[in-house]
Amino acid sequence: MDSNVGEYGMARLGIFMVLVGLWRFSAACPASCTCSISRIACIDPGPGIEDFPILTLDDMEMDINITDIYIANQNRLFDINDNSLKYYSNLRNLTVINTRLTSISSQAFNNNTRLQYLNLRDNNLSTLSWRTFQNLNMTSFPLLSGNPLKCVCENLWIKLRLQEDVESPEKEDLKCIDERGRRKSISRISPPDCEAPAAEVSPSIVTKKEGSDVAAVCSATGSPAPEIMWNTENLFTIADTNPLDMESILTLSGLSPSDNGRVITCSVENIVGQSEAYLQLNILFRPTILELLEPLNLHHWCIPFTVTGNPKPELQWYHQDQKLHEQEYIKTEIHESLGSVHHGCLQLVNPTHIHNGQYTLVARNEYGEDSKVIDAHFLLPPNDYPDTESPYYPFTTDPPLPPIDDSVAVYVVVGIAGVALIGCVLMVIILKYGRNSKFGMKGSSSVISNDDDSASPLHHVSNGNNTPSSSEMGHDAVIIGMTKIPVIENLQYFRQSGSMLKSDTFVQHIKRHNIVLKRELGEGAFGKVFLAECYNLTPDQDKILVAVKTLKEASESGRADFHREAELLTNLQHEHIVTFYGVCVESDPLIMVFEYMKHGDLNKFLRSHGPDAVLMADGQHSLMVELTQSQMLHIAQQIAAGMVYLASQHFVHRDLATRNCLVGENLLVKIGDFGMSRDVYSTDYYRVGGHTMLPIRWMPPESIMYRRFTTESDVWSLGVVLWEIFTYGKQPWYQLSNNEVIECITQGRVLQRPRSCPKEVYDLMLGCWQREPYMRHHIKEIYSLLQSLAKASPVYLDILG
Ligand SMILES: *[C@@H]1O[C@H](CO)[C@@H](O)[C@H](O)[C@H]1NC(C)=O
Ligand SMILES: *[C@@H]1O[C@H](CO)[C@@H](O)[C@H](O)[C@H]1NC(C)=O
Ligand SMILES: *[C@@H]1O[C@H](CO)[C@@H](O)[C@H](O)[C@H]1NC(C)=O
Ligand SMILES: *[C@@H]1O[C@H](CO)[C@@H](O)[C@H](O)[C@H]1NC(C)=O
Ligand SMILES: *[C@@H]1O[C@H](CO)[C@@H](O)[C@H](O)[C@H]1NC(C)=O
Repeated sequence: MDSNVGEYGMARLGIFMVLVGLWRFSAACPASCTCSISRIACIDPGPGIEDFPILTLDDMEMDINITDIYIANQNRLFDINDNSLKYYSNLRNLTVINTRLTSISSQAFNNNTRLQYLNLRDNNLSTLSWRTFQNLNMTSFPLLSGNPLKCVCENLWIKLRLQEDVESPEKEDLKCIDERGRRKSISRISPPDCEAPAAEVSPSIVTKKEGSDVAAVCSATGSPAPEIMWNTENLFTIADTNPLDMESILTLSGLSPSDNGRVITCSVENIVGQSEAYLQLNILFRPTILELLEPLNLHHWCIPFTVTGNPKPELQWYHQDQKLHEQEYIKTEIHESLGSVHHGCLQLVNPTHIHNGQYTLVARNEYGEDSKVIDAHFLLPPNDYPDTESPYYPFTTDPPLPPIDDSVAVYVVVGIAGVALIGCVLMVIILKYGRNSKFGMKGSSSVISNDDDSASPLHHVSNGNNTPSSSEMGHDAVIIGMTKIPVIENLQYFRQSGSMLKSDTFVQHIKRHNIVLKRELGEGAFGKVFLAECYNLTPDQDKILVAVKTLKEASESGRADFHREAELLTNLQHEHIVTFYGVCVESDPLIMVFEYMKHGDLNKFLRSHGPDAVLMADGQHSLMVELTQSQMLHIAQQIAAGMVYLASQHFVHRDLATRNCLVGENLLVKIGDFGMSRDVYSTDYYRVGGHTMLPIRWMPPESIMYRRFTTESDVWSLGVVLWEIFTYGKQPWYQLSNNEVIECITQGRVLQRPRSCPKEVYDLMLGCWQREPYMRHHIKEIYSLLQSLAKASPVYLDILG
């Protein structure tokens, strides 16, 4: 109870705060204005405003975020001062038109760096300073027409800026008024004694030894005479400036090495503008070793050091006073150079006790040298292990080991431990990856490659009871639609190999000029799929719509596969398998021509005709009618018919799912896809190894565990397809991760009965999901059961387009 009261109290407090905020803000909003959270508009001439409506920091904390200020018709507004816009740091658009605005301070927009659009038309501005606009990064120049601008030097910068600004609508016709009261185009003015400043520094680079003195002159041009400023802030060297008429002399006494590489700016400015020139310091000095530290075991062992010196010093190492000869296993590496400070390592790969001892680093250049010494201790000699664990030797706790031979054993122990560690890390990575893969597989990475390793469901020939061993497509695979489907030769269905390939197979060749591409339907792993018109394909029709699949890369073996697939496909004709019309091989790319199925893949179709359809509607479908039960049965029955045919041809599909079926007019459903499902529906697949993607949510236990794919495993998948149909295209086990799905299926759990699914149909699904493959319904049985169920509830096809 108490906590409820507390929450209620908090909620009330929240509302109270919001109300207070709005109230305070609207109190700040002047009578002639309307204020919202993002916009202030003051267009009412009476009573009018005298100053900008000023937000305070308190207002900013109340989520008020003004991006737009619009002020017009104000008779008492004369200036924009330093504070007017200070707190509107998100301001994008500022319009001040038809007011008495006479001056804008040079700091007015300092805090409005996001200002993009500035309209100052029809005010009383006679001069404007370039300084007002110097911090702004606007895409276009402020709009200024309708102001009594004077043709004076102070406004010359406007002409110069307009010349640079290609876009400005006022480029040509912005006018100013000369001393005799005549209006002139501002692009033509050239006031006397008025010139933009320029600067030159001499010398511009100084190369001198530390401690020396330097003098540099910054000379300026421009009119009126510009102000010259050297920026000597933060210099270590003592600096002195001596301004003269049109130049300024900088004197540096006793150059400090810390100023090496520094650039000193001389800036000159007058009312026309501003310019800069630079002096660069290159200070020569003897090396200093700033740091030399005890060895660290990073990826390799490293003795870290930091040296400085200009020119960059030569480095020489000594080990026990012997010159160290650097080679692949012991070498100096510079990791980072910041100016003249260099950070690096003496890197040692697998050092042993013989590398222990004193290391001396000597850094030299022509101005001198420096050296430092460090003691390094990598390993104890083999016969010298203490009883306690050595900090350098975490893997062994064994007491002293005998010398020589057994030092090898130490490495073995280390090695094994290392392997075990790497193994653990890999396991973690694999588990983690597997768990996340439901999300991680999205996108184009889900490409199936032809040279796949083990068990891609669509690319390998299975011998029926084992993992396919070869990565060759051989003669025993076929594609349905755009998907390669392997042929199975198991004991039950064994036939002479190549029996599918009648030697007289005649693949129809279609002339390229008979194919007119209309638009892209999608892009799959193998290439693009287009909607096209095909002429002279059938004797009774002049032209028909077809789906055209192009083969992306046509290597020699790719071409061979293409022709073999075309032959196999020509032999696979059934009313519930997508019709294959032929190929076009006149030139690249190679093309396969298929029947066009108007409504696309079945999964999408189901979703767009289910209870969630409104959420997914893309505005194109005017008929968002929910599928009826009898229509669902009609769909299921047609897929079953196609599967009966495939089984009779001794094909195992391996990837039967609604995403791989297509829907045409009058609820005609066929098996086949355009090879795009792995891209579009990548979360339906589980990646194993590098390339293999398994549709585990559609697979029976024996396929998951032993990669065994048979007509019986297709029956299991058909059961899942029924479930998909009766859930309007939900993903099976959508609430579970891939690893959880594998666990569920292999433990014998099955999908639950969908809410709108009749008991007879769910019984049929359960018949498909028997754990023992031989216990499952036969595909013919399923077909006739669905047929009789469908007859019992006739279909009213005319409901759907
Ligand atoms: C204010 O609005 C702008 C644009 O709508 C947005 O980019 C910015 O993050 C907002 N700032 C705050 C503090 O809400
Ligand atoms: C600029 O606006 C921010 C945010 O409103 C404010 O904190 C800051 O004080 C302003 N800076 C100046 C120079 O006024
Ligand atoms: C700023 O003004 C431009 C031009 O009038 C307009 O297109 C844009 O929508 C305005 N932006 C905002 C944030 O009001
Ligand atoms: C415009 O500003 C000038 C001073 O710069 C002033 O004399 C004149 O009265 C102003 N005009 C109007 C219409 O406010
Ligand atoms: C100015 O704006 C452009 C794009 O509008 C951007 O690329 C650039 O970084 C901006 N410069 C500064 C100094 O904000």
